Amino acid sequence: MKLFLDTANVEEIRAAAEWGILDGVTTNPSLVAKEGRDFMEVLREITAIVDGPISAEVVSTKASDMVTEGRKLAKVHKNIYVKVPMTTEGLKATKILSGEGTRVNMTLVFSSLQALLAAKVGAAYVSPFIGRLDDIGQTGMEIIEEISTIYQNYSFKTEILVASIRHPIHVKEAALLGADIATMPFSVLEKLPRHSLTDIGLDRFLKDWAKLPKK
Ligand code: G3P
Repeated sequence: MKLFLDTANVEEIRAAAEWGILDGVTTNPSLVAKEGRDFMEVLREITAIVDGPISAEVVSTKASDMVTEGRKLAKVHKNIYVKVPMTTEGLKATKILSGEGTRVNMTLVFSSLQALLAAKVGAAYVSPFIGRLDDIGQTGMEIIEEISTIYQNYSFKTEILVASIRHPIHVKEAALLGADIATMPFSVLEKLPRHSLTDIGLDRFLKDWAKLPKK
């Protein structure tokens, strides 16, 4: 499973990249706004840090404008995936962009039927928002299982990118379901290598080692 960071913060991306486990980055307009920096500048910096898929989202709502915006974003770097929202205009734009060879990440997906449509228009990635479904009392992870079954039934090549991850259990469940990618905030990614027994064990090893008589 590929692990992506869901952030527009270059310091977080740099730190995770050094751990050797970062496969890509997803951004969205809210994450970019949080940084308060020029989007294109941030995007270029990210491409210089991570050699993997980097999602950049369009903010237009009309298909023709999404296509223009998507083409511009795709030109920034060969690793850019254009994020397009799941609307009928978004479907039209995705069909055009993917037809031209631009890889599209269809976002704001909350049902397996929406995911079916994303695959039909040739999206490279589909981004179901798990945490936001949990927030409204619906088990988000259920749609990952459904999407996976639907994609297998028809041999769709669209990859399932589990988004809106809130904690490590989401990452584990996504992996158990065979999702292609999980994108998460830095606060979740940094929890993955941690275990209290690892800390206790290491502390004990080092203390025992220190007891050895020194020559
Ligand atoms: O980037 C899309 C998605 O991961 C957003 O997550 O936490 O805002 O629901 P969240």
